[in-house]
Amino acid sequence: SAAEKGGYDYFMLKEIAEQPKAVADTLLGRIDAAGSLSLDEVRIPGPVLREVDKVVIVACGTAYHAGLIAKYAIEHWTRIPCETELASEFRYRDPILDQRTLVIAISQSGETMDTLMALRHAREQGAKVLAICNTNGSTIPRESDAVLYTHAGPEVAVASTKAFLTQLVACYLVALYLGQVRGTKWGDEVRSVVRELSDIATQVDEVLETMEPVRELARSLADKGTVLFLGRHVGYPVALEGALKLKELAYMHAEGFAAGELKHGPIALIEEDLPVVVVVPSPRGRSVLHDKIVSNIQEIRARGARTIVIAERGDEAVRPYADHLIEIPATPVLLQPLVATVPLQVFACELATARGNEVDQPRNLAKSVTVE
Ligand code: G6P
Repeated sequence: SAAEKGGYDYFMLKEIAEQPKAVADTLLGRIDAAGSLSLDEVRIPGPVLREVDKVVIVACGTAYHAGLIAKYAIEHWTRIPCETELASEFRYRDPILDQRTLVIAISQSGETMDTLMALRHAREQGAKVLAICNTNGSTIPRESDAVLYTHAGPEVAVASTKAFLTQLVACYLVALYLGQVRGTKWGDEVRSVVRELSDIATQVDEVLETMEPVRELARSLADKGTVLFLGRHVGYPVALEGALKLKELAYMHAEGFAAGELKHGPIALIEEDLPVVVVVPSPRGRSVLHDKIVSNIQEIRARGARTIVIAERGDEAVRPYADHLIEIPATPVLLQPLVATVPLQVFACELATARGNEVDQPRNLAKSVTVE
């Protein structure tokens, strides 16, 4: 009913708007006054966590994209090797796991059969399993050694939005916590990122306030057949998520690529007026990557692409090559997906509406897939 949708036309719009609160709620009580993380719920003892020598993340769909981003954070802040794998592929390739492997299963519903089967397989091999889940008491957390709940509240729209942002927050918390427990050389950086995480809800809110031009752009592209998405580093999974949203909601051909791979194939797809969304890393931090992606934007624009550029506010270097510029607030490099994903959600939702699609219940999809 209209009341359930809180005055919005679709649950998806409501859930996009709820993201600042979902992010804040997921952080609540998990950072103490001194700026340390207290994740008491993660009932895996410190000594066990200190022995972990490999992290494997398993998930499906949008949750898998959160896992891909988590890999960058975990390896950077903890120096533990981490791989992220589609749950449906994981157990069928005979993965190498033992008591020192920490498996992280990410699932909004906690009922996705592929993810459940992956975690059962992991536990049979002796690995410890930590679930990141949005649904209290669901099967995946019940069958895990520990759970860190995301506090997104119920997500009704099939396409995941607020759950994704809170999965990212939970992944960052786990990565920072592992860094804290194990005491890496990144101690100072860990503390400063914990502080900056506390500002993220406000920054997501800022992004939401500036979305009208994105909606207008989406409407103008309603007749297009294909949209490409490019990103690198943590922007690469953001590009994948942008493309997935467009497939799910707009039923358009959409693909995400790592910008560095452009020259190895995808550049052949570029033609006159093809919309290409580019997620630009911060010009601060790893500025080498920033400069490389600016060259990518020049290359595709020279071949006629219509460039839609998502970049940090004040990033003047991208401006001359952006047919459409979507500005996002400055964040620490690894946290950028929390703000960069939001315009892509709005973009896909508006395109779906413009094409007359059912936003909350896209064809052929289910909110939770409980078959393998
Ligand atoms: C389904 C949904 C996706 C979701 C995926 C994983 O395919 O349509 O939106 O990302 O399942 O769901 P989970 O509940 O495990 O996060």
